[in-house]
Amino acid sequence: MLRDWKFEIQLDEKSDKAIYLQIADAIIKDIHSGRLKPGDALPGSRNLAQLLKVNRNTVVEALNVLIIEGWLIPKERQGTFIADTLPDFKEVKASNPINVSTKNTINKHYHLQFDDGSPDSKIAPITELARAYRQIFNQKARWQMMGYSNELGDFEFRKSIVQMLNHQRGMQVNEQNIYITRGSQMAMYLTAQYLFTKNDYVIIENPGYKPAWSAFESAGAKLLPANVDKDGLVIDEVIYYLKSGKKIKAIYVTPHRQYPTTVTLSLKRRLELIQLSNEYGFTIIEDDYDNEFHFGYRPVLPLSSFTELKNYVYIGTMSKVVAPALRIGYLASNDDALIEKVGSLRKIIDVQGDSIMEQAVLQLIKDGIIKRHIKKATNHYKAKRDFMAALLNEHMNNKATYTIPEGGLAFWVVPNEQIDWSLVSKKLKDKGIKIIMPDSFSFGKTINGIRLSYGSLSEKELEEGIIALAEAL
Ligand SMILES: Cc1ncc(COP(=O)(O)O)c(C=O)c1O
Repeated sequence: MLRDWKFEIQLDEKSDKAIYLQIADAIIKDIHSGRLKPGDALPGSRNLAQLLKVNRNTVVEALNVLIIEGWLIPKERQGTFIADTLPDFKEVKASNPINVSTKNTINKHYHLQFDDGSPDSKIAPITELARAYRQIFNQKARWQMMGYSNELGDFEFRKSIVQMLNHQRGMQVNEQNIYITRGSQMAMYLTAQYLFTKNDYVIIENPGYKPAWSAFESAGAKLLPANVDKDGLVIDEVIYYLKSGKKIKAIYVTPHRQYPTTVTLSLKRRLELIQLSNEYGFTIIEDDYDNEFHFGYRPVLPLSSFTELKNYVYIGTMSKVVAPALRIGYLASNDDALIEKVGSLRKIIDVQGDSIMEQAVLQLIKDGIIKRHIKKATNHYKAKRDFMAALLNEHMNNKATYTIPEGGLAFWVVPNEQIDWSLVSKKLKDKGIKIIMPDSFSFGKTINGIRLSYGSLSEKELEEGIIALAEAL
């Protein structure tokens, strides 16, 4: 039980972070530090509210977030407890990785395509972006921007990414830990070139994201597939590989919303993965490709935000936020040598990034346009997700299982029977509809599931596509 825990927190009314999230994060911090232990009971929400001089609803919101994320467990008539399923934190001081693309291009045979989760380009802030470009080129000192710039990326732009990662995703990085790339694919390629040499191994999720696998293989790494279940990556399979004696340099994961299944890696497994990484010394390559569109309380915090984690490369992208054609991605790492080496590797093929584009996007960030766009787009996608859920319920209920995703731009649908996907794809092609074949994310044996995007399709297209798919299954 809770003995003499004193909740020490400075609430900051002016912060970008909502008060209930500040409270939630402070509790997480106390769990990390061992001040709160698995099984400890928290004071009641009324007491906490009095102590913190906030409205009780704010405390209840904070506790709800932590219950959903798995940090706390509510017990009827007893109160709220620190989850006792969490592994013990070992106090470790944080010290300072096939060539099949899922990116299908629509061609003359198709008028409708379920892609792998692209955003709706019709709502992209293109007018605002064009305005930002014009402003840049109209500036008096525009000549200053036409020269060579820092290969890590525009300093002010990196600063704004750092701010976003630290404030919204709980990370603790600075400008020197960040490298701006042309999309996350480049980040994965460069990371692979730095980390792997021939005969190194990388554990990957199965099913998973093949463009990343290709990047790792191009650097000489061999892939070790670990399965994914309802709680995300199966840690026992990771342990099996680690104990095999193979030279495992890294693991590539999409913990926030696993690609393609949309499952969130459970907190217990997150913590286990961090411990394993520290114990065996492999790097966690965390691809957080669609953190922005979340319909629940808040996205789970990245593995890379846990200060215990010694070796990580965190990869993000602006493809979903603005548009895939805008090639801006970034990687963050606590490994200084990685950032430096990645910089010199990139210089071999690309002297610097597109600093004008970085400045234009920075302008959108500064003007609050990106923030407003994310808010608007989240509502837009949530409405589409609900529409898609209703369609699946009406047309696929007796044919397949699926869970309604808490965010992102796609559903994972598993048919009740083993499907001949080539036949289904042919039937759909005859109707001008394209799907991503399950072998584009399966390692070895084809997985019997399909990723159905909804972000880029209109309601009419979604209806036509789902009815046709239901008929074809
Ligand atoms: C798993 C995963 N990673 C990364 C990306 C984004 O890639 P990029 O930033 O290169 O457009 C995507 C886009 O669909 C993805 O599905």
